[in-house]
Amino acid sequence: MELHIADHPLIAHKLTVLRDERTDPGRFRGLTEELVALLAYEATRNIRVVDKEINTPVCPMTGTKLSSPRPVVVPILRAGLGMLDGMLKMLPTAEVGFLGLVRDEETLEAHAYANRLPSDLRDRQVFVIDPMLATGGTLAMAIDFLLERGVSDVTAICLVSAPEGVRHIEERYEGIANVTVHTAALDEKLNEKGYIVPGLGDAGDRMYGVV
Ligand code: URA
Repeated sequence: MELHIADHPLIAHKLTVLRDERTDPGRFRGLTEELVALLAYEATRNIRVVDKEINTPVCPMTGTKLSSPRPVVVPILRAGLGMLDGMLKMLPTAEVGFLGLVRDEETLEAHAYANRLPSDLRDRQVFVIDPMLATGGTLAMAIDFLLERGVSDVTAICLVSAPEGVRHIEERYEGIANVTVHTAALDEKLNEKGYIVPGLGDAGDRMYGVV
């Protein structure tokens, strides 16, 4: 597994405002979108492209365009939905699949309640978006669904990650699949309730309110 931890003052600044408990849901959603767009810049560095012939007003030239098939973006509901607009600003032609996964707050195990993925994902570049990489259980379940559909490499974009979750993904997919994680921060640890410390609390609740 490849881990990329963003090292940019603008990302650090925006993430600090996001973490602050006084930041309201509207601002939280706006910052999430901005952070995803910044992380997507690096996370798409290896996106597949082909040459494209065009004419500028001055002369013909060979430019670049994203290759077919289109990349796929998969937000993990509910909180991953808050990252979708930022991602689609960077990749407006991407196809979008949805995975609804919820974590049992007692056992911290992930359960799937929705799965709307294209059935054949062979040769597709897939970007999973989920703000919090905590135990890694949810991301692992998402990656397993994708591998079942023929995906061979997955890029996950997370805002905040815990060392426990990173280790889980690293160990589980070693020698099995190419997994790359881009995160704005690698925090200290998980607490006894499975929250990332210092983290930012429950990302879904902070975006959309407590359910
Ligand atoms: N999910 C969240 O929303 N926050 C955490 O800290 C861990 C998992």
